[in-house]
Amino acid sequence: MAPRKRLSSDASAETSVKENTPRKPQEPAISESPIAPPKWGLIFKLSLFLIPYLYLIFYHYNIEPELRRSILINAVMSIAGFFVTVKMIPVASRYVLRRNLFGYDINKKGTDQGTVKVPESLGIVVGIVFLVVAILFQYFNFTADSNWLVEYNAALACICFMTLLGFVDDVLDVPWRVKLLLPSIAALPLLMAYAGHTTIVIPKPLAPHIGIEILDLGWIYKLYMGLLAVFCTNSINIHAGINGLEVGQTVVIASAIVIHNIMQIGGSTDPEYKQAHAFSIYLVQPLLATSLALLSYNWYPSAVFVGDTYTYFAGMTMAVVGILGHYSETLLIFFLPQVLNFLLSLPQLSGYIPCPRHRLPRFDPQTGLLTGTNDGTLVNFFLRQLGRKSEKSLCIYLLLFQAVACCFCFVLRYFLAGWYK
Ligand code: UD1
Ligand code: MG
Repeated sequence: MAPRKRLSSDASAETSVKENTPRKPQEPAISESPIAPPKWGLIFKLSLFLIPYLYLIFYHYNIEPELRRSILINAVMSIAGFFVTVKMIPVASRYVLRRNLFGYDINKKGTDQGTVKVPESLGIVVGIVFLVVAILFQYFNFTADSNWLVEYNAALACICFMTLLGFVDDVLDVPWRVKLLLPSIAALPLLMAYAGHTTIVIPKPLAPHIGIEILDLGWIYKLYMGLLAVFCTNSINIHAGINGLEVGQTVVIASAIVIHNIMQIGGSTDPEYKQAHAFSIYLVQPLLATSLALLSYNWYPSAVFVGDTYTYFAGMTMAVVGILGHYSETLLIFFLPQVLNFLLSLPQLSGYIPCPRHRLPRFDPQTGLLTGTNDGTLVNFFLRQLGRKSEKSLCIYLLLFQAVACCFCFVLRYFLAGWYK
């Protein structure tokens, strides 16, 4: 973590000095409104995407009323979650600042903004609101004997465990290599409870060469599930460091996931297949809504930082929906920028090239522009290719690239449908 301070020995020393002085109420000197208000204009623009989404649900696809009702109840609960998150972030910001959980905005170093203590780990609010929405939603959808209930709750246990470990990382500043392993611990509830199939369909062009159409991977399938969770969480966490990027990439991918789910539900007649995609929607809608609330504070210039609490939480949520919805290949194509960033990062992650604590661009306080460094990240690669950019426009370019990767995935699926699987 960044130059973040916690209540340390200094603080206790200060307390002992005060022992002999007359006591005053111990309220810390923190203003009542420490952070800038949410950026409503951005949220309004993004919420316009709700129109094509509703069009798909109500008109384009013929979805059974029962299923449509569940999706809409979930959407309404998610919107409520959005408003609760917007309300709670300033409150939580005061509490984390009181505990000295803050970071300095590195890409503003040398300016006044670079000296402001930005509250960290606000992903904790998103994680808690998300879990409350997802837990309450069971009341509206599942019956007591539903098989889905087991996997749904195992998925929630993973997400909850991951949020906890993310928060632990933010507070304790866990060493980098231990960080890599945390998601494999958090994925255990799902790996243990998973009773679904462990088979994969061999792509049609390969089937004649291999001689089988379906392959049972057994325990290797579970290993794959665990590795996917490790990849999704860490790849979001290392594609970061620019205001709005951590949450922005999640918003783009989550939007692509819900559209993919609706398209699959609308185009299928298999109830089990539809249920798998509905399951994914029930978790991704609240993820999207609560993340938008966080984005309204984290967008440039960031009033709050999301912390590893958020990056791990978001990555794990998308991993479990990809696993239980059985569309992990599609998910990995949505994650194309993260895959590229991971490949660029490999020499530094493996220790072959020295890896500094922060692999961020160089900021010029005179011009306010960022220049790419030699650190192996997509952020630096973009800057080297496109030339110097402001932090905000760089983030927009990176998010547009994320959206292009998602569109590419839809086009690829369209052309490969029927031929590949
Ligand atoms: C990962 C990256 C690291 C990157 C960091 C930024 C790897 C191996 N690690 O580390 O290179 O610098 O994320 O999040 O690739 N910050 C900003 N502006 C932002 C967001 C974060 O300046 O928009 C800074 C703040 O000081 C904040 C800190 O980054 O306190 C958070 O870093 P943290 O999430 O703890 O870093 P890692 O996830 O360990
Ligand atoms: Mg991080």
